[in-house]
Amino acid sequence: MYICICNAIRETDLRTAARCCGGDAEAVYAALGRTPQCRQCLDEAEEIISEEANAGGMSLSAAA
Ligand code: FES
Repeated sequence: MYICICNAIRETDLRTAARCCGGDAEAVYAALGRTPQCRQCLDEAEEIISEEANAGGMSLSAAA
């Protein structure tokens, strides 16, 4: 599924970039070499990035 139509960013690409790069949606888009255009996708992108950050946090605490 595409999260960002303007930049053709798929959910899987966004999740992968969020796991390795972190930061807010604009930072993750930059890591993908993209820049937000219409910005309608940013709320949903932030939600997905937050899910990945929380999943990473749970892994770390589970390992401790
Ligand atoms: S849909 Fe992502 S910038 Fe337009």
